[in-house]
Amino acid sequence: MGFNVVNELNSAVEKVESALEAYYSSNKATEKLTDAMKYSLLGGGKRIRAFLTLSFAKMYGATEEAAIPFACAVEMIHAYSLIHDDLPCMDNDDMRRGKPSCHIKFGEATALLAGDSLLTQAFEVCALNDKVSALSSVNAVRILSSLAGYKGMCGGQEIDLSDKVESYEELVYLHSLKTSALIKAACLLGLYAAVDVPNSEDVEAISEYADCLGLAFQIQDDILDVTGTSEELGKPIGSDSKNDKKTVLAFMSLEDARVASVELTTRAISAIARCPDSTTPAELALWLLSRKK
Ligand code: IPE
Ligand code: IPE
Ligand code: MG
Ligand code: MG
Ligand code: MG
Repeated sequence: MGFNVVNELNSAVEKVESALEAYYSSNKATEKLTDAMKYSLLGGGKRIRAFLTLSFAKMYGATEEAAIPFACAVEMIHAYSLIHDDLPCMDNDDMRRGKPSCHIKFGEATALLAGDSLLTQAFEVCALNDKVSALSSVNAVRILSSLAGYKGMCGGQEIDLSDKVESYEELVYLHSLKTSALIKAACLLGLYAAVDVPNSEDVEAISEYADCLGLAFQIQDDILDVTGTSEELGKPIGSDSKNDKKTVLAFMSLEDARVASVELTTRAISAIARCPDSTTPAELALWLLSRKK
């Protein structure tokens, strides 16, 4: 299989980045804050979450115009999560996407506020999406807020900090919240950009894909923290061991962890086999297996 998906991803990156840029107008009084937001939001990143939103939207027949605001909202939440994740009170990492982390560049207080502002802006952007029905806007806000908050990503971050992970099953649960939840929101927002009332089989199939892909993705992230280079990753390596984080490698060998991420990818792909032309998200999942960043 050729990876046409890389070309599709590159073209999505361009569209999403120009849409993201267009959200910002200048205001002298708050310039430092918006500079910090733009610094983290527009400064690179693979944009796989935005790409998932656009891909599922297309599969279910949405226009790109309808899906782009939702894709931007997901990237805003993701960028906020990375700013806060790097803060000294969390992972204390001073490099992100190949540049100094937001708090190194702008100071901790502004970084905190830039994260807060990106998080809240995501909901504004969903609410303002006039290319979808009001019902879909509300559903986007509902899905994003529940999967990014204490029942999702923030809950996962809390468990990650707690040093309470004692088994692989507990790690799977942690990753399902910390990483899969936002990936699930990205995929479901694509579906909701296309349909007002999706059927529950589609929601379940897409959720299963996102759960498996998110776990495979975080396992790869944990592997790359050990085997990668900071030049390629654009973030420090060894962050997990520095912070005494239990990762997949606490419970299995590198080789077995790689096998687990392949198996999860296979499960992700079969979960969406029933969806209308699932080639793009299937190829994305396969391509991510060989990622170096
Ligand atoms: C990093 O996400 C955080 C994790 C959930 C592992 P990405 O690897 O998608 O980061 P960017 O957006 O490409 O920088
Ligand atoms: C990221 O997990 C989780 C988030 C929700 C931001 P990591 O802490 O492993 O992500 P990186 O390795 O710093 O990108
Ligand atoms: Mg972290
Ligand atoms: Mg981190
Ligand atoms: Mg990591």
